[in-house]
Amino acid sequence: MRKILLLLLLFHALFQLRAQRINIPIETNQNALVLQTDKDNRLGIIYFGKKLSQTAEYLNIGKAYKYNDENAGIYNGVYTPSGTFNLAEPAFEILHADGNTSSDLKYINHQVVKIDENINQISILLKDPIYPVEVTLYFKTYAKQNVMEQWSVIKHQEKGTVTLKKYASANLYFVAKDYYLHHYHGGWAKEMKPEDTKLTAGIKTLDSKLGTRANLFQPPTFMLSFDRQATEDDGKVLLGTLAWSGNFKIDFEKDSYQNLRLIAGINPHASEYALAANEEFKTPSFIQTYSENGKGEASRNMHDWARKYRLLDGEGSRLTLLNNWEATYFNFDETKLTSLFKGAKDLGVDMFLLDDGWFANKYPRNSDAAGLGDWQENKKKLPNGIGYLVKEATKAGVKFGIWIEPEMVNPKSELYEKHLDWVIREPNRPEIYFRNQLPLDLSNPEVQNFVFGVLDDLFTKNPELAFIKWDCNAVVYNAHSMYLERMKKPQTQLYVDYVKGLYKILERIRAKYPKVPMMLCSGGGGRVDYEALKYFTEFWVSDNTDPLERIFMQWEYSYYYPVIAQCNHITDWSKVGIKFRTDVAMMGKMGYDIVVSKLDEKELEFSQNALKNYANLKETIWHGDMYRLVNPFENQMASVQFVNKNKDQSVVFNYLTENRYDLVSLLKGIKLSGLDTKKKYKIKEINLYPNSKSTINTEQIYSGEYLMTIGINPDISSRRTSVVLEINEVK
Ligand code: GLA
Repeated sequence: MRKILLLLLLFHALFQLRAQRINIPIETNQNALVLQTDKDNRLGIIYFGKKLSQTAEYLNIGKAYKYNDENAGIYNGVYTPSGTFNLAEPAFEILHADGNTSSDLKYINHQVVKIDENINQISILLKDPIYPVEVTLYFKTYAKQNVMEQWSVIKHQEKGTVTLKKYASANLYFVAKDYYLHHYHGGWAKEMKPEDTKLTAGIKTLDSKLGTRANLFQPPTFMLSFDRQATEDDGKVLLGTLAWSGNFKIDFEKDSYQNLRLIAGINPHASEYALAANEEFKTPSFIQTYSENGKGEASRNMHDWARKYRLLDGEGSRLTLLNNWEATYFNFDETKLTSLFKGAKDLGVDMFLLDDGWFANKYPRNSDAAGLGDWQENKKKLPNGIGYLVKEATKAGVKFGIWIEPEMVNPKSELYEKHLDWVIREPNRPEIYFRNQLPLDLSNPEVQNFVFGVLDDLFTKNPELAFIKWDCNAVVYNAHSMYLERMKKPQTQLYVDYVKGLYKILERIRAKYPKVPMMLCSGGGGRVDYEALKYFTEFWVSDNTDPLERIFMQWEYSYYYPVIAQCNHITDWSKVGIKFRTDVAMMGKMGYDIVVSKLDEKELEFSQNALKNYANLKETIWHGDMYRLVNPFENQMASVQFVNKNKDQSVVFNYLTENRYDLVSLLKGIKLSGLDTKKKYKIKEINLYPNSKSTINTEQIYSGEYLMTIGINPDISSRRTSVVLEINEVK
C-alpha cells in the first residue's frame, strides 16, 4: 500500500513538473531575452528588451502577450521547425533518413555555464519527440557589453543520413508597434550604401548567394529600430550581424500579430547538407546588441565587445603603412620598389606593403589576367626575391608586408594547368570569370594544404615578414566541386564547405603565426564579418578612397566594427587636397598609397606632422569611445568624436560634405559627447596645413559640461573643409 502511495506521489510530482512552465531568462547588464515552454513543452520567446530588476516578474509576461494561435502555429518559437504545426518561416527544416519531412522540437533541459565574471553560456537541448534528432541552442552573453552571441548545434542518431535543408543560427521574436530596418546594398567601390525601410506584413530578406566575396552587394549587418526610428542618442535599436564569410540569409517576417520574427543563418539556397549519425553541425554565430539609448550606445557596446573578444589583437596596436598598389599597379621592379622604401621612411610610417604583381613566371602577373596561383617571385621583376626586399626595407628602417590572394587562380597559370580538379567550375559548361579568375575549391583538404602552404612558405623563407594583405576578388559561378564529386558528397555542400575550409586554413595559420597582422580584403570590402575577423586584425573598407565617399562609408561601417579594424589609406584616387584625405583616413587605421617623392615640400611636411599627431592620438581613436556628432546623411557636414576611456583626451573630426553657398547650419556649435562634465579642457586645431592659421581659440579653458551642453564651433566653411580638433584635459 505504501509503495502504491509513493508511486502515486511520484507520478503526481512528475506531472506537476511537466505542467510547470520552464522559464529561461538570458540576460546581460541591460537586456533580457526570456524563453518559456508552452503547455506542449515547446520553447518560445516571451520577451526581448530591457532587463527587469526582479527576475520572478518574467513569469507574468506570457499572460500579458497572447502569442499562441491555433491556426497560425507558434510564431514565437525559439527555433521553429517545419512540416508539423508551424506554418510560418521555419528556422529548421530537414529531410529524415527515411524520407520524412516533418520535425518538431521540444524542450528537454538547459544548462548555464559561467565562463567568467562577464560571460555566461546557456545551452538548451531540444529534441524531436518522434525522430532521434536534437538541436542544442547556445546563447553566450557578454554582460558588460550587452552583446549576445547565439548559434545552434544539430545532431541525430537516425539510421542513415539526414539532410539539413535549413539550419538557422538565430530565431528571435520582437513585440513593438513598428519596425524600421536600416540595411545596406553596394558594389565595388560603393560599399555600405544605407537604406531605411519600415517593415510591412510579410518577409523582407537580406541575403547573399555569391559564395566568396559574399558581401559585395549586401553585408550581413543591419540595424532594427523598434516603435520609431532610433537616432544616435535615443530610441530602441538592435545592431545585428551574422558571423559567416559565405552565403547568408536574414529574414524579417512581420506576422499576423504585427510582431516581428527574425531568422538569420547560412543561406539555405543550394546548400542542403548531409549529416551522418552522431556528426555535429554547428551553425555560425548571430551576434547582436540592443540598446534603448540609440545607435551610438549600441555601436560603442559592439566596439568594446569586438576589441575585447573578437577582433584579432583588438586591444593591441597597428602598423601605419605605405602601400604601392595605386602608386605602381603591376608596373614595378626591384629598383622601383626599393626606391619607394625611402619614401615610407621619409613619411614616417612603420611599414611598406607590397601589393599585387610580384609573382608568377610562366604567366607573369603583369595584369589581372594571369599568374594567380603561381606564388613564386617573378624573376624578371624581383631577381633577388622577397628576401632581398625584406632586407632592403629593414635597411631603410621600415618593416615589410605583402599581398596575397591564395584562394584564387587565373586560367592562365601553371596551377590551373596542373590542378584543374582544384578549381571550382562546371566540367561540362563554359567557365565564367570574375576579374579573369576562378576560386579554388577550399572544400578539398589538398587545396587547404596548398593555401596554407602559400603563407607558410612566405613566412618560413622570410621570418621578418610583418604583415599580410589577404585578398579575394572573385565570386563563385558554376558552383561545382570535383572533390565533393569524388568523395560522393552532395554538391550542395560546396558553399558551406568552402567557408569551413577557409576557416580551417586560417585556424592553422593562427596556430603557427598567432600575432602577425593580417588585412582582410576582398576587392575592397567584399568580405567583412565577425567570423573572419577572429583571424584578421583589420579589413580593407573599399577600393574607393575618395575622402568624401569615405566619410559616408566609414560612418556606416563604424556602427558594427571598431575603427581600429578599418584600413583607411590616403591615395591619389581623388583630386581633393592631401589635408582632407589625411584627416578622413585618420579616423581609423591610417595608411598611404602614394608616391612620396611626388609630394611637394608642403604636402610632405603636412603629412609628416599628421603622422606625428596620429601617433599622439591613435590610442584614443583605436581604443576610445566613438561618438557620431553630426550625421552627413542629414546635414551638410560630418562630425565624429573619439574620447579615451579616462576622458582626458579627445579628438573631433569635422568635414564639409556639401559645398553650397551660405550654409547657415554650419555656424552652429556642435555639442560634444563622452567628456567628464567636471573636467577642464583646452582645444587646439591640429593637422593644419603649413602656413595656415587656425581660427580656433586655443587659450580658452572649457568645462566638460560646457562642451557637452553648449558645444564648440569648428568653423567649417568652404575655405576650411576639414577641421580636426584635439581636446586635452587641463590639470
Ligand atoms: C583588389 C584590392 C586592391 C588591390 C588589388 C590588387 O582590388 O581591393 O586593394 O590589392 O586587388 O589586384
